[in-house]
Amino acid sequence: MTMTDLRNIGVIGAGTMGNGIAQTCALAGFPVVLQDLSDAALDRARKTMEGSLARLVKKATLTEAQAADTLARITMTTTLDLMADRDIVIEAIVEKLEVKAAILGKLDAICRADAVLASNTSSISLTQLAAASAHPGRVIGMHFFNPVPVMQLVEIIRALQTTDAVAEAVTALTHAIGKTPRVSKDSYGFIVNRLLAPQINEAINCVYEGLATPEDIDSMMKLGANHPMGPLALGDLIGLDVVLNIMETLYDGFDDPKYRPSPLLKQMVSAGYLGRKAGKGFAEYPAA
Ligand code: NAI
Repeated sequence: MTMTDLRNIGVIGAGTMGNGIAQTCALAGFPVVLQDLSDAALDRARKTMEGSLARLVKKATLTEAQAADTLARITMTTTLDLMADRDIVIEAIVEKLEVKAAILGKLDAICRADAVLASNTSSISLTQLAAASAHPGRVIGMHFFNPVPVMQLVEIIRALQTTDAVAEAVTALTHAIGKTPRVSKDSYGFIVNRLLAPQINEAINCVYEGLATPEDIDSMMKLGANHPMGPLALGDLIGLDVVLNIMETLYDGFDDPKYRPSPLLKQMVSAGYLGRKAGKGFAEYPAA
């Protein structure tokens, strides 16, 4: 195998991101092994993917046969053994350094030495993660965006240790699964979250200072900056706890007061007003 043809794909974690990544890769024709800890988690992932593919069939983007073939390309498992023959394993498990580092250690023992180990982390330093692998040069970030089947970008994050061959192979794979790769060096929040979260945070400061209503702040950014969605609605969609986590990563990482989380953001999270998923954030979201 040359580094440029990554074909057999493994995905670890079948949650919000993992099932979308598995579906996207399988839809593009790649054989996928999808692993999670329990059959219940895998069943949920299967149902989510079935629903997502059914919507594509309804929109006539896909035939019934193509949808069935896509699902058939995904092998589900609760153990890591089937990762042994994978060219690349993409990890999308809980956002905790020690848990991700432990998985990398296990994969070192299971995977071929030339297999690529990618992480979908949204905030953990890839350089720190790579240091947890016996072969740090093969570790790289593949940061997909939610919902994966819809969002075009994959931020490719090069750890300090990542080799050129691995970065090139992962860039080629990203094109091959129908996404658009953009490469960045490892840094706190990478690029998209570093730009996005402070804007949401600043919009929350505007609410905190009583400058305007959340509705008006959002409509100003839609009408004046041509953003498809206002920053407060976007914060509610992402989850205000997630936004706070990103701000804390930037604040602690850069040690710079310009990233200080808004006091109101902290209060919203303490109150459980996390946005859409909680039914309440800067807007109310009655249960459907
Ligand atoms: P999730 O909670 O929906 O899914 C995580 C899945 O991983 C669960 O099904 C869980 O059972 C499984 N899991 C946990 N530990 C495991 C282990 N040791 N082995 C195998 N499976 C394990 O989480 P989500 O939202 O999909 O996030 C996953 C990763 O993607 C995190 O690193 C997160 O920061 C990142 N991310 C999340 C985005 C989002 O919008 N949700 C966007 C971009 C990145």
